Amino acid sequence: MNKFPKNFLWGGATAAHQIEGAYLEDEKGLAVTDVITLKEGSKRRITENVEPGHIYPSHQAIDFYHTYPSDLKLFKEMGFKCLRVSISWARIYPQGDEKYPNEKGILFYKNLFQEMRKNEIEPVVTLNHNDMPLGLVKKMGGWRNRQCIELFVEFAKTCFNAYKELVVYWETFNEINNILIFDYEILPFMSAGIKFKEGENKEKVTYQALHYQFVASALSVIEGHKINPKYKIGNMAAFNHLYSKTCDPKDQLLTYNLNREHFVCFDVQARGQYPSYLLKEWERKGIQLDINQNDLEALKHGCVDFLGFSYYTTDVVDSNKNSIKQEQTNIVEKNANPYLEYTEWGWAIDPLGLRLALNMLYDRYQMPLMIVENGLGAIDRVIENKINDDYRIDYLKKHLIEVQKAIELDGVNCIGYLAWGPIDLVSASTGEMTKRYGFIYVDKENDGSGSGQRIKKKSFYWYKRVIETNGDSLFGNIDEIEPNSANTKV
Ligand code: BG6
Repeated sequence: MNKFPKNFLWGGATAAHQIEGAYLEDEKGLAVTDVITLKEGSKRRITENVEPGHIYPSHQAIDFYHTYPSDLKLFKEMGFKCLRVSISWARIYPQGDEKYPNEKGILFYKNLFQEMRKNEIEPVVTLNHNDMPLGLVKKMGGWRNRQCIELFVEFAKTCFNAYKELVVYWETFNEINNILIFDYEILPFMSAGIKFKEGENKEKVTYQALHYQFVASALSVIEGHKINPKYKIGNMAAFNHLYSKTCDPKDQLLTYNLNREHFVCFDVQARGQYPSYLLKEWERKGIQLDINQNDLEALKHGCVDFLGFSYYTTDVVDSNKNSIKQEQTNIVEKNANPYLEYTEWGWAIDPLGLRLALNMLYDRYQMPLMIVENGLGAIDRVIENKINDDYRIDYLKKHLIEVQKAIELDGVNCIGYLAWGPIDLVSASTGEMTKRYGFIYVDKENDGSGSGQRIKKKSFYWYKRVIETNGDSLFGNIDEIEPNSANTKV
């Protein structure tokens, strides 16, 4: 019995600033992520410029800019049908507002996509994965400024024209809803180049920036379809949904309302208009935004073709604590879920939550869904050049079984599963290398030291088997899967 659809897109997902390195090569400009340090104490810091005395993980990352031909061979060996990469906006428009694009940047991605095609790997390309040009932040305050819409659409058109023959699947903005977690300062900065000013209404600022991004995304979808009607252009939002702590209706209502924050971007990008609950919320909070009729027309006509989402974890809502916290900071205070285990970074491991997520999204939108990120960040230990990452296999296996159930038992139209970080890469939240997600180990430490050598982990062979059996092997015993082949240096 075929457990997954025949053309299911098995693959992995990455982002330019987390893999490429070569941060100034071939005339690339600085991106916002180039001034975000490795975590110092408990969090990453944003510096004004590149300053001595800090470690900036994006500068070297895993050097994919130079190693991609051999890295792609490894993905091919695993049988990848697709790979999600992002285009660094600052490679194409180094400051963001040049009249003409940087040909060297265009060429790099052309070569990359060609190489992917040679390896029979379908590119899934994100236009903006947390790394807008720093120039736009300095000149105009990032996405606070309406001008970013035009500049982004120009960038999108340049890419849509340049890679017409090579790319079919696009995504506009990565985790576009993350900007709403505005109290965690690197998120609005990564997402939109926003640094808050003393005393300003953070919620208003982030909603305004989000509105401009929605319009930019919608206009890009419209332009993309004009350039190539075969393009399939999706959105991408994080969907780490919430459970109620109890069956107290107060908890339930609060959970329902807070989950809207997970739906809101899909509502706009799939349905083409703002949902009534958000308009009411703005009214209640006195949030008035710069939104004009043309914007609303763009949203209406620029709906996406498929829904991309990331899923890592779930959280719990407790009305005794969360309502107050939510009003003040927009952050849902974490409540432990006694039914789940947690990763070393405190993220709940919830495979069933993925089946729920797929159903919640499919019931609501009835559109093709692509899981464009899911995975386990863990510390791997290399023992005699081997990495036996059974914990990762266990995590992925359990999640994939739930994906299969959502497809087979619930009828969800899920078109792909892209494991996050198929090769170890820089962590977005901490800047660490040691928070590893990969099937392929990269010999690099948090401070950038290490040979950069790639080593296949046990999960490499496991995922290869999953792909070659189109998911059937998920229902066997992991120990039967080539245990002896684990871990080869490349
Ligand atoms: C998503 C991002 O939020 O989660 C990725 O789109 C990120 O860029 C991933 O890397 C995992 O998060 P982290 O913090 O473990 O790297």
